[in-house]
Amino acid sequence: MATSAEYGLGPQAFPRGWFIVAESSELDQGPMAVRYFGQDFALYRGESGTPVMLDAYCAHMGTHLTAGRSAMIVRNGQQIEGDSIRCPYHAWRYGPDGHVNDIPYHDGPCPKSASIRSYPVRDVMGCVMMWFDPEGGEPEFEPPFVKEWDDPQYVRWQLDHLGVINIHTLEVLDNMADARHLGPTHGAPCEYFENEMRNHVVIQRQGGHIQIYDAHLHSVTWYTGMGILLSKQNFGGTLIFELIANTPVEDGVTKAWHAALVRGQNVPPSEEDIVIAKASQASALEAFATDFEIWKTKRSALKVMQLKNDGPFNTVRKWAGQFYMPREEAKARQQELNGMHLMKDFPRPDSKWQEEGFEDGLFSGQ
Ligand code: FES
Ligand SMILES: [Fe+2]
Repeated sequence: MATSAEYGLGPQAFPRGWFIVAESSELDQGPMAVRYFGQDFALYRGESGTPVMLDAYCAHMGTHLTAGRSAMIVRNGQQIEGDSIRCPYHAWRYGPDGHVNDIPYHDGPCPKSASIRSYPVRDVMGCVMMWFDPEGGEPEFEPPFVKEWDDPQYVRWQLDHLGVINIHTLEVLDNMADARHLGPTHGAPCEYFENEMRNHVVIQRQGGHIQIYDAHLHSVTWYTGMGILLSKQNFGGTLIFELIANTPVEDGVTKAWHAALVRGQNVPPSEEDIVIAKASQASALEAFATDFEIWKTKRSALKVMQLKNDGPFNTVRKWAGQFYMPREEAKARQQELNGMHLMKDFPRPDSKWQEEGFEDGLFSGQ
C-alpha cells in the first residue's frame, strides 16, 4: 500500500470528484455508517427519497448518527423525520443541510456552532454517489450517466460488491493506459488503441479479437474523475455497458464495485433476458477479477518502468494529478493534456465505429 504523496500526485491526499458510496438498494434498508476518504459519514435516505450524507458525529457529544440500531428512537422508527435525522443519544435533529433544526428540550434557536458538514449526493443508475472535494466546493460537473439505464429494453444491473483492497485507486486507473496487458491478462490483445482526454474525462478506445468469445471486441471506456469507469462494449454484435467503481477508503486503500447493463430481446425484459444479463455480468466480472487478483497481490508501482511502446501510463497518471490539486490549478493541467494520446505501435480505431454513432450520448456529466 502506498499513499497519494508517495505517488507524487498532488498536495491533497484524496481526489475531488464523484464517487460511489453505496448501492441505492442498500440505503433503502435504512441509515448506513460509511467510511471513505479517511472520514466517517452518516448516510441515510430522507422520507422524500433523497439521499443525505453528513459528517458522522453529532456536535453535542460526538455520537455517530447512524452507527447504532439499538437506541429506542431508532427501534421505534422515529429517527428520520422528513429529510432530517435525529441523533440517537439526545435526539438533536439535523437537517439535510447539516444544521441542527430541533433540540427537544431546548428553548430558543438551535446553536449555529452545532452544524456539521453536508455533502452533495445523488442517486444515479442504482448507485448513491457523493461529490467529494477537499476544498469543500460544489460539484464542477454532473455524475456520469448512461442513457440506456432508462431504456426499457435494458436489464438494470445490481452491483457486485468487491470489497476493500490495499491498493491505491491510481493503480486501478492505470488500466486506462494499459494496452499491453490486454493480451496476457484478458486474452484480448488490442489491434488498435488510443486515449483521449477531455478535462475531467479520460477515454480509451480499443479493440481486437477476444479469445473467450471468439469474436471481435470494440470498447470505448471512460473514467469520469478518478472514481467511476463506464465502458460500452460490442462483442461481435452483442452490446453491454460495464461499470467499475473505485472509491478511496483510506489513503492507499480502495473499495470497488462492478456491474453490467445488458440489452435484452424483449420489452420489458423477459425472465430469460434477465438470466442472460446476469450471466453476462458474471462473465464481465470474471474478466475484471483477473485484474483484481493482480492488484490484490502486486506491490505498489510508485513509478512505472515505462518502455516507449508501453501504454501512456505517465500521461494518465498526470491526468489523475488534476484531482489532487486545487481546482484553480487543475485547469492548466487539463489544458495541457486535452486531446488525443496515440501509441506508435497501434493504429486508431476504424472510423466506422464513429460513423455508426457508437459514441452518441456517451461521456455525459461533462
Ligand atoms: S450526542 Fe447527539 S444529541 Fe447528544
Ligand atoms: Fe484489465
